Amino acid sequence: MLSRQILQKITIRCFANDAIRKGLIGMVGRTPLVRINKLSDETGCEILAKAEFCNGGGSVKDRAALFLIKDAEEKRLIRPGGTIVEGTAGNTGIGLAHMCLALRYKCVIYMPNNQSQEKIDMLKTLGADVRPVPVVPWDDPDNYNHQARRFAESVENAVWTNQFDNTANKKAHIETTGPEIWEETRGKVNAVVFGTGTGGTLAGVGTYLKDKNPNVQVFLADPEGSVLFNYIKHGKLERTPGSSITEGIGQGRVTKNLAGAPIDDALAIKDKDAVEMTFRLLHEEGFFVGASTGLNVSAAAQVAKLMGPGHTIVTCLCDTGQRYYAKLFSRSVLQERGLLDCIPESYRSSLH
Ligand SMILES: Cc1ncc(COP(=O)(O)O)c(C=O)c1O
Repeated sequence: MLSRQILQKITIRCFANDAIRKGLIGMVGRTPLVRINKLSDETGCEILAKAEFCNGGGSVKDRAALFLIKDAEEKRLIRPGGTIVEGTAGNTGIGLAHMCLALRYKCVIYMPNNQSQEKIDMLKTLGADVRPVPVVPWDDPDNYNHQARRFAESVENAVWTNQFDNTANKKAHIETTGPEIWEETRGKVNAVVFGTGTGGTLAGVGTYLKDKNPNVQVFLADPEGSVLFNYIKHGKLERTPGSSITEGIGQGRVTKNLAGAPIDDALAIKDKDAVEMTFRLLHEEGFFVGASTGLNVSAAAQVAKLMGPGHTIVTCLCDTGQRYYAKLFSRSVLQERGLLDCIPESYRSSLH
C-alpha cells in the first residue's frame, strides 16, 4: 500500500517538469525532444526525436515498465515485496529490473536462450533472476512468455506483467509520450513514426495525437522479417524477407497493444538503411544509439520525403549503442550479414 502511494505521488511529480526528479522513478518520461540537425537541414523538415535513452533505465521501455507495475498495484495484483515476472528479451526486462530495485520488488525474467550474454549479465547485475529457456514460437506452450505466466501463477504475491497484451503499456504512451510530444512541439507535429515491438509506443502516441488533431499522420516502420508491414498494407500477416539485426522491434502477430491503433501507413525499412542511419547518427550528429533508433530515424527521413519540406516529424531514440556493442558495432558481425558496405568507409574505423 505504501509503495502504491509513493508511486502515484512520484508519477504526478514527473509531469511537473521539476528541475529535481525524485529518484529513479522520477526519471521516467519528460525526455528531451531533440532536433536531428543535419537530416532536418537536408530534408527541409523538422526531424525531431524523443531521447528515450535519457529515461532512468536507459530506454523507451522504462515508461511501459513503470506503467505495468503501476497497473498491477492499482489492480491489487501485487503487494509490497512481491515478484514482478515478465517474458522479455531486452529493454523491458532492463526497465523492470531498474523499477523493481527502486520500488523494492523481486524481478524474474524469462527470455529465449539465444540472447546475448551481455544482456543476461546486465539483468543479473540489476538483481533480476534470469531464466533463459529454449526458443519456441508463441503458439507453443513452452514459449518464454507462457512460462513467465505459469511461473507467476505458481508463486504467492507475484504478477506476470504481460507487456505484449496488457494495455497499461499503451497507456504509458497515451499519458506521457503523446502529451509530451504535443506540448513540446506546441501542437505543430505533422507526423510520427516508430518501429514496433509490443506496439505500445506507436499505438499510445498515435491514439493521443490523433485525438488532439486527426490530421497527424501515424506511420509504422517495420524491420525485415516482421509481419506488420504486410498486415497494414494488405491485411495479411505475411513476413517480409530477411531476419533483422535490429532488436526489440518486429512482430509475428497483432498484440492487444497494437490492435485498433490509428495507423495511416507502414514503411518497410531494410537493415542496410537502419544500420547506415545508426552510423550517420553517431558520426554526423554524435548520438550513440542502437539499430532500432537507426530504423526510426531512417523512416522519419522517408516520411519527410513523402510529405515534402515544411513538416514536423517526430520519432524516438530508443536506447544507446552500448547495449549492442558486441553485435551492431562489430566488424565481423556486420561483414557476416553483408552490412559492412552500407557504412561509409570513413566511419568503419570506429568498429572493433
Ligand atoms: C530497442 C527497442 N526499440 C523499440 C522498441 C519498441 O517499443 P514498443 O514495444 O513500444 O513497440 C523496443 C521494445 O522492446 C526496443 O527494445
